[in-house]
This record gives sequence, C-alpha cells and structure tokens, in this order.
Amino acid sequence: MCGIVGYVGYRDAYPIVIKGLHRLEYRGYDSAGIALLDEELKIYKKAGKVSDLESHVKDIDMVGSLGMGHTRWATHGAPSDRNSHPHQSGNRKLSIIHNGIIENYAVLKETLLAKGHVFMSDTDTEVLIHFVEDIQQETGLDLQDAVRIALNKVVGAYAIVIMSADEPDLLIAARKGSPMVIGVGEGEYFVASDATPIVEYTKNVIYLNDNEIAYIRRNDLLIKNIDNTVQAPYIQRLELQLEMLEKGGFEHFMLKEIYEQPRSIHDCMRGRIYPQEGKVQLGGIKEYTEKLKNIDRIIIVACGTSWHAGLVGEYLIEEYARVPVEVEYASEFRYRNPIISEKDLVIAISQSGETADTMAALELAKEKGATIFGVCNVVGASIPRLTHAGVYTHAGPEIGVASTKAFTAQVTVLTLIAFYTAQQRGTITQSKLVEYLTQLNDIPQLVEKALKANDRIVEIASEFKNSSNCLFLGRGSSFPVALEGALKLKEISYIHAEGYPAAEMKHGPIALIDENMPVVVIATKHSSYEKVISNIQEVKARGGHIIAIVTEGDNDVRAMADYVIEIPETAEPFVPLVATIPLQLLAYHTAVMRGCNVDQPRNLAKSVTVE
Ligand code: AGP
Ligand code: GLU
Repeated sequence: MCGIVGYVGYRDAYPIVIKGLHRLEYRGYDSAGIALLDEELKIYKKAGKVSDLESHVKDIDMVGSLGMGHTRWATHGAPSDRNSHPHQSGNRKLSIIHNGIIENYAVLKETLLAKGHVFMSDTDTEVLIHFVEDIQQETGLDLQDAVRIALNKVVGAYAIVIMSADEPDLLIAARKGSPMVIGVGEGEYFVASDATPIVEYTKNVIYLNDNEIAYIRRNDLLIKNIDNTVQAPYIQRLELQLEMLEKGGFEHFMLKEIYEQPRSIHDCMRGRIYPQEGKVQLGGIKEYTEKLKNIDRIIIVACGTSWHAGLVGEYLIEEYARVPVEVEYASEFRYRNPIISEKDLVIAISQSGETADTMAALELAKEKGATIFGVCNVVGASIPRLTHAGVYTHAGPEIGVASTKAFTAQVTVLTLIAFYTAQQRGTITQSKLVEYLTQLNDIPQLVEKALKANDRIVEIASEFKNSSNCLFLGRGSSFPVALEGALKLKEISYIHAEGYPAAEMKHGPIALIDENMPVVVIATKHSSYEKVISNIQEVKARGGHIIAIVTEGDNDVRAMADYVIEIPETAEPFVPLVATIPLQLLAYHTAVMRGCNVDQPRNLAKSVTVE
C-alpha cells in the first residue's frame, strides 16, 4: 500500500528517514509520521504531506540514531492525525509502522478491549502492536519472540517495522504480502518499502521474503522465518537508477499498475470471500443488508472508466441478484431531474472519490431519499465521506492517469456486491456461490497468465501504431470491456477509438470498415460466441483487420482473424476481469511507440474535480 523507511546506525536517523519519506511520496499517501529513539521514544505524526510533518517538527531537536518513518495510504480509519502511523502499545514502550491490511484485526481488537486495552485510533495497525504487547505481558517473552508469535496469528498482508523504548539499538522488520527491502551499510542498516530511500547510501540490499522477520542492529542482522528457523541473508547489488526504482523497474507507472493487477485483485478480495463456505463478507455495507433485500432498483453513477465498470456491474447484479440496474453518466444524471425514491440504492463508483460530477449526482440522490453507497479507492475521500456505506477497492495508489488496476478492482467489488446481494435476496444457491467464489479466487492467477501475452501484444501494436481509427467490439459483459479498451487507446495514444456492442455494427458503424480500420473483437468462448464469429466474418468481408481476444486454444477464430491474443479459460462472469488485460497492454504499447506521455496524457487529469 504505502511507504516505510527505517534506520539504525551511527548517523542521526531523522534526516535519513525524512528524506526517505520524500523519496516515497510518488507512491501516493494521505498522512506521514516518524518515530525516533534517543533517551526516550518520540512519535511525531500528522495527516497531510511529508512537508506538513517537517513543519510540525521544525522547532524540535530531532535526535536519535534509531528511527522509522511512514507514509500512510489509509485502509482502516480515515486519514487523520490520530490514525497516522507510528502507533504505540498501551504502555507506550512499543511503536509500529505498517503497510498492508490486518484482516483479523476486528477479532483481535475485541479480545484486547475485553482485556482492558485502550485504543487511540481506528486502524488495524494499532491492534497489532497492542497484540504484541499483550503476548509479552501474558508470556514474559522478549520482544523478538512476542513479535514472531503475534505474526503467526495475524491474517492479512503486512510490511512492518517495530521499535521499543527498551531496545535502543533494534529495529524489527517483517513482511508478508507487502514489500520490504533492507539496505546493508557499514555499521548501519536501512529498511524501506522499496530501494528508492536506500540507494544513495548503499547499493547492497536484501529483499525480505514473505513470512520473514529481520532483527536489525547497528552491526548485526539476523533473519528468521516466523517458524523461528534462521534464514541466510541474500545480499544483492542494486543496478537500477532511482527513477526506474520508483516504478519498480517498469518504464511507466501505468505498466507497473497493469502488472500489479494479480495482487490488487487479490487484495480487493482479501477477507471478503470464503469460497468453501460459499460466503461473501462486505463489512462496509453489512449494516444495510435489510435494505439490500428490499430495494426496487440500483442506479450506478460514475464517469469514464468507472462508468464502464458500472456497466459490467449491471450485467452481474441483474444476472445474479435479479435487481433492476441502471447505469448513468453522473454528468447527465445530475442535471436530468431523475425520478428517485427511497426504494432506490444509488452506487457511486470513483477511483479518486473526488470526481465533481459523481459527487453532485450522489448529493442529488441523497436529497431525493435514496440510500447511497460508494465504491472508491481512496479511503476518507469526499465521496466515501458523503455516502451511507460502501466498499473500498483496496487497489493501492494509482499514479498513472489512465485507470487500469482501479478498473479491475472496481469490477471485482461489483462482482462481490452482486453475489452478496444475491445471497441476501436468496436468488443464488449455496452450491452456485461455492462454485463462483472458487473460480473468482483463481482470477489473480488467470490475470497473471493473461499478462504473458505481452510480447505478442507488442508485435500487434507495432502493426497498428499508425492507425487513425480503431473499433472495439464485444457482446454481453464484454461490451463494457470493448468500451474500456477504446477509452484506454484513445486517452493515451490519441488514436480515435470507439467501443460498440458487436451486434450494433450492422446499424451504422460497419460503413466505417475498410482495410485501414483495425477491429478489436472480444471473442472468448462464451454464450454469444457463435454470434461474435458472424460479426468477425462481416468485418472480414469488408476488408477490415481483426485483432481477436480469444480463449486459449481456440483455433477456429485463429483461422479467420488477422491477429489473435489468447487469454486463459475463464468462467463467464469473470471474463471482464481477464479480457481487459490485453486491451490495457495494447493501448500502453501503442502509446509508447507513438512517443506519447503515457503516465500524464495531454489534456487529462487523474481526478476531474471540476464540472
Ligand atoms: C480513465 O482512464 C480516466 N482516467 C477517467 O475516465 C476516469 O476514469 C474518470 O475521470 C473517473 O475518475 P474517478 O474514477 O476517479 O471518479
Ligand atoms: N491498514 C493500515 C492503515 O489503514 C496501513 C495502510 C497503509 O498501507 O498505508 O492505517
């Protein structure tokens, strides 16, 4: 999720840590904080920018050669001073910073509250450090063992650093599912979420592995697994330049975020699906379960890519929950004087949670008595603060202006809402839920597999990079995917592109078909496959060039298309999650070949907060 920096050595920690936090600002965050240990353990933290933190401490003597810092991307608890990291144990001796999500924090917190623990924040992170303290108090174990025991009982993703007022020379770092790098200096060590805060001090790094814990002192490093077996540290030499490091070795943030999708989809489902039990759990809307049983209609309001996600949601919610769904451009809905009642549920989809038109549409719906939900990626943004309830996408910061991982995370959340609502309204059998959730659970691996078509897509992009126009066709829930593929291409490569329902071709667009018109068709083997084949033949008959997205092993379409991109066999409800991947890559590589500014396309903003 966000940023961690730690230092133990012979130098003052503060300058190193604060500079490291600046290095990590590119990752997007909402708060910052720092802990230093000299005579005593001092914590300084604030919502806002790293520069706000610096102003906050400017008149303080920031001494200590042991320190750690954090930039927060909130997942549990809105951005605020008190929810910022570092967090402390009840006895104020221990301090923690954390990237990730502690899924079972609520259960742990209940137990700790019953034991008299008092919490200062709404975060999942604070529960973890109280849990470590509780283990120490109950068992008398030292900090090292107490941390290891605690991590064996934690469910979720974490990269953490812990300091103790009683250990002036010790940083404990651990990771599972969130990155952590250790920099190996001379008489000093560094830890960070990636190498950008480290590389100016040392190029010798150790990438901590999942389930490993590092006990770091000025002149000693011990790495153990959480099962207490000692791990031999593997020191690598960093070759990447700073700028490449920020992008995780990728050329652009957009490509990094396309490749993050197996993890972001997994994170989006984390703690929310129980396939064996056929259960979906959405804590953010559980207070509205009765409402979900009684609504007459769902209206989805959104803009751009988020509107496309809403269209996918329409297919899924109507198919499984049997609730009528309307998907509206927020910018039209807000001015149309729509008919809304208290029997309506209005869902706003917004990555940024700040889009002005979407906000205004929600306010209108709320005024007219509807229940309003949000599906957002930024915790504590304006839209989540306006809605009655909602489900965060947990995709992590999306830096590229063209939305990619946020889109697939939105579709994942809408899939969960469809199944959750179906569960509540009894429109889906338990056995079907088990089947679908089992298949959904495998989607991150299928997305990983779809990414392997990258080289093939580069070849195709080089064929069409000089096209002036392009059509995208799909049927069913692949029609919104066609729209999304067209938007991706036009917004970053500036090639005019349109998405259409494949059957709509004969009602006009087919007049555009000639040998200069590449046509991307989503032709996976599903319910409308035969119909799509006919559409491909219509295009071929008029000299159009077909780029077909097919189910792997499909040689029928291969025989008639000019170019084929394979995706793995995918259950029909989840095709949008996988079929979008090659379209994102096609747009990306085309734009790069055209010399476009992929991460900041001309005329576009990441969040359109103006009307
Ligand atoms: C998509 O790639 C664009 N960045 C744009 O269409 C975006 O989806 C739209 O502006 C909505 O933004 P939001 O999801 O933050 O509300
Ligand atoms: N889940 C923690 C919180 O919400 C950590 C978030 C992060 O990764 O920055 O505070």
